[in-house]
Amino acid sequence: MTATPPPHRCLFVTTALPYANGKFHIGHIMEYIQADIWVRALRMHGHEVHFVCADDAHGAPIMIAAEKAGLTPQAFVAQIASGRQAYLDGFAISFDNWHSTDGPENHELAQRIYLALRDNGLIAQRTIEQFFDPDKGMFLPDRFIKGGCPRCGAPDQYGDSCEACGAVYAPTELRDPRSVLSGATPQLRQSEHFFFRLSDPRCVAFLQQWTQSGALQPEVLNKIKEWFVPQDDGSSGLSDWDISRDAPYFGIEIPDAPGKYFYVWLDAPIGYLASLKNYCDKTGRDFEALMADPRTEQVHFIGKDITYFHTLFWPAMLHFSGRKTPNTVHVHGFLTVSGEKMSKSRGTGLDPMRYLQLDMNPEWLRYYLGAKLNGRNEDVDFNPDDFLARVNADLVGKYVNIAARSAGFISKRFDGALAQPDTEGSALLQQLQGAAARVAAHYEGRDTARALRDIMQLADQVNEYVDRHKPWELAKQSEQQQALHAVCSTCVACFRVLTVYLKPVLPQLAQRVEQWLGVAPLSWQDAGHALPSGHRIGPYQHLMQRVQTSQLEALFAPAEPAPVAPPLGGEALAAEIGIDAFAAVDLRVARIVQCERVQGSTKLLRLMLDAGEQDDSGQPRLRQVFSGIASAYDPTQLQGRLTVLVANLAPRRMKFGLSEGMVLAASAADTKASPGIFVLNPDSGATPGMRVR
Ligand code: 2FM
Ligand code: ZN
Repeated sequence: MTATPPPHRCLFVTTALPYANGKFHIGHIMEYIQADIWVRALRMHGHEVHFVCADDAHGAPIMIAAEKAGLTPQAFVAQIASGRQAYLDGFAISFDNWHSTDGPENHELAQRIYLALRDNGLIAQRTIEQFFDPDKGMFLPDRFIKGGCPRCGAPDQYGDSCEACGAVYAPTELRDPRSVLSGATPQLRQSEHFFFRLSDPRCVAFLQQWTQSGALQPEVLNKIKEWFVPQDDGSSGLSDWDISRDAPYFGIEIPDAPGKYFYVWLDAPIGYLASLKNYCDKTGRDFEALMADPRTEQVHFIGKDITYFHTLFWPAMLHFSGRKTPNTVHVHGFLTVSGEKMSKSRGTGLDPMRYLQLDMNPEWLRYYLGAKLNGRNEDVDFNPDDFLARVNADLVGKYVNIAARSAGFISKRFDGALAQPDTEGSALLQQLQGAAARVAAHYEGRDTARALRDIMQLADQVNEYVDRHKPWELAKQSEQQQALHAVCSTCVACFRVLTVYLKPVLPQLAQRVEQWLGVAPLSWQDAGHALPSGHRIGPYQHLMQRVQTSQLEALFAPAEPAPVAPPLGGEALAAEIGIDAFAAVDLRVARIVQCERVQGSTKLLRLMLDAGEQDDSGQPRLRQVFSGIASAYDPTQLQGRLTVLVANLAPRRMKFGLSEGMVLAASAADTKASPGIFVLNPDSGATPGMRVR
């Protein structure tokens, strides 16, 4: 039976671009595995698939992280990028290209797309009020402002929502807001921002139509419908989108708007195109022609948290800049580990690099996640016991076992040559072959769970055939050698068909099978015919080990605790701080001009300090500081001495008056065991007002 080959398809497939501020976590790897299985299945049909990704390099958090690390944002991002390949190779993810949104292609494409939107009348300019950090000289993203929740009063809440009561608000509503970066009180300042006019009736009409075009899963479409619900004021429900940020910002400059940058989420999806263009340029393909061809299918795999960006902003940006819109945006759920949600930035207890370093087989994970992903956007749970059971019982126990039970006889008894299957074997083989279109359709619909379930059911049938014919018994009877040959050849033929079906999930194992069978890389079509009798296969070597409990224990074992530093002078070292935190403390040399006991206090001395300051009339200004050193010093001892003052400490009102700073002194943690207080004294030559750094 020869089936007509499906029409040739050309596809452009992406996964979401990960932020370039951290290593991959297991959530990234799950998405890549899902997309990779889909892509590999299509490639096996002979379709042309360009599968690309990139680092999402821009934005304030990355700029700030780079500054903290003492690197330029470019160097910081490059460092993160250099760690990517080990994961991709490790889990056999077959991207054709990995690029960066900070590449020249993205700068150019983002500006071109923006200008086309502007020419189309879809960019508006508006003045907005936003918090500005006067110390850092920058506008603050909501996440970099903290303060008291305006609803429940919980302290230390982010500028967009309260973790204590769940309230959502604007940062301007926080009580006592402060900048997370500098601690300064932010100031409200006005700034010109650019908006993408999503509320424009043209956008609304286009998106109504595009979202219903079949690009989305039904459950996703349902959710999106809520976003279109008209508001009380008669507006469409879609709001204009603020796409600009003020300098300093790590991003792409907005044309004709000095000091303005595209908000990271504007240029990030354009990074899909930029990575494809970079790939086309490297491989001699015509990017513009590829993307202008209506037959090119554009497919994005994303997580459900970024649906809004990909189903509203992104298609509208593409459409109104005269470009192809996505054919499919495929949304998956989150990955939990033993039921536990993971943090987007920190990941979970399942560290994919640790998995690889423990020499755990990457195809176990590909199989396990594949068996759980069903094409809907439900969450997926990684459960260690379930993982062990499914891999060992199904993958090894059912599929690999077919080869393990039969292949040895072919090499030992029949010199590696295959025979015709017997009648029953032929019928079985045909049944397996008949599943090709069905299994392909499950892969196409991203229902890998269904595909793998069907494949395992076929494997069950083959194992039942083996159980009925018992090759190990046939092997003991000299008159049954022909039967043995036919049964084992049937098994190898069936195993080969199952390998075709499993190859999108298990590409490395399939390659070893191809070597063993002495065949070219298996394509989907190869399921439709068997190897000729007389074909010689190589000696069988076991194809896959079982998962050991000890491996899973090691995978989830708590990380080695950081070595505890021996206490210094009987006191543990305080938590590490960055240079910024240290620089925030302004230490100055000060002269103790006056010193006296405080009436009513046995502990305090009152110091009058000259830190090189002057009052409005140009007279030296002295600061009053109360210091708890009366037990150690007679006031006359200190008069005239130099010391070190914490000059920017907030003044504190005490019973005896205002204390405007603090002088530095050393003491043991346990002053009873080791009494004494020792005021710091700079070396001679220092003068009042000098900064201590
Ligand atoms: O949510 C995220 O991790 C983003 N970095 C995804 C960007 S996807 C695309 F738009 F680039
Ligand atoms: Zn609250």
